[in-house]
Amino acid sequence: MNPIAATILKSFTESFISQPTLYFSPGRINLIGEHVDYNDGFVMPAAINKGVYYAIGENESNEIHFYSMDFDEWLSVGTGEVKKMSGWRNYALSVVNEFLLLGCKIKGFNCVFAGDIPRGSGMSSSAAVEGGLAFALNEMLNVGLNRVQLALLCQRAEHNFPNVNCGIMDQFANMMGKKDKVLLLDCRSMEHQYFPLHMEGYKIVLLNSKVHHTLASGEYNIRRQRCEEGLGIIKSKLNIQSFRDITRVEDLQVYKTNMPGKVYNCCLYVIEEIARAKKASELLQQENLIEFGKLMYATHEGLSKLYEVSCEELDFLVELASQNSNVIGSRLMGGGFGGCTINIIANDGIEHFIEETSKAYQQRFDIIPEAYIVETADGTNEVSITP
Ligand code: GLA
Repeated sequence: MNPIAATILKSFTESFISQPTLYFSPGRINLIGEHVDYNDGFVMPAAINKGVYYAIGENESNEIHFYSMDFDEWLSVGTGEVKKMSGWRNYALSVVNEFLLLGCKIKGFNCVFAGDIPRGSGMSSSAAVEGGLAFALNEMLNVGLNRVQLALLCQRAEHNFPNVNCGIMDQFANMMGKKDKVLLLDCRSMEHQYFPLHMEGYKIVLLNSKVHHTLASGEYNIRRQRCEEGLGIIKSKLNIQSFRDITRVEDLQVYKTNMPGKVYNCCLYVIEEIARAKKASELLQQENLIEFGKLMYATHEGLSKLYEVSCEELDFLVELASQNSNVIGSRLMGGGFGGCTINIIANDGIEHFIEETSKAYQQRFDIIPEAYIVETADGTNEVSITP
């Protein structure tokens, strides 16, 4: 059994009398399509084998007891006392709150959880926390929501108490991911396809910058507002529904003088990234990783210069990657302002790249980055307790 799963089960049985059910809720990577999920774009995420384990069991009372092993913190609330709090409590309670908003009667339960997604790494630990709890409550309370409905519930939960106006990508990958597959999700229609991740001779490697600048949620919401402002201006003149209806960058240029510079740049990035993600999905199907990798670099450039969600550390890591002929694509992944870069690297060059990059990064920033070779995984699921 996974050591984290074993530890939380032990902690659960030491703290409570009831029998738990065990769940695993994964984090995610995203190959391409960044900051476009809330702009009706296309994204290419996959669930990964890093995530959050949950042990949950009913307790025949009106009390909810959470123990976050990672923080070594407890939270006990009455089922009628669910309200906004801070930190991890907000993510957990917001999920419970969404079930209350659906009119479900919440029974008391005990819950111990822990994970191995480094915080602020851009692998979406928040969606993993939400997804595991939502999946468990859906079963425990017999609510009968399907996986897509659960993803949407978790997205609403993240909007609500934590106040992060996220798109659907993370929660969708968390619920709908499949091992050895990458998703192509149309965030407007929610239509999705699975592609096999054919990476003959290459691997996906994440490099964690181990920095997390600024109050990311605040900046994230600001990016979203800029896009909404820009789209509003375009829509007042043009009969379109969303950015992807603008297929030529020249069509946006007409509006340059009507928009604040930062708003224009965000719109430009989004239009380009939606087109890139579409193109990238074709390239992946043709197993053309080299061209795919070039698009990843272009995405990073856009995220850094136009969307302004990168930082010195991430730019440094991508710059080093671009100088290494074994790395065919690299970019920041997730919301930005720190966290990981995602890299496609030739198998033979991985060790050397990690070594050289770590050395240079440490010299420059006095931080030792961490590297993870990605393995895809299935979406949130119950895990058997019996060995
Ligand atoms: C965060 C959000 C997602 C998405 C990414 C950027 O992970 O939760 O919805 O917007 O940032 O692509």
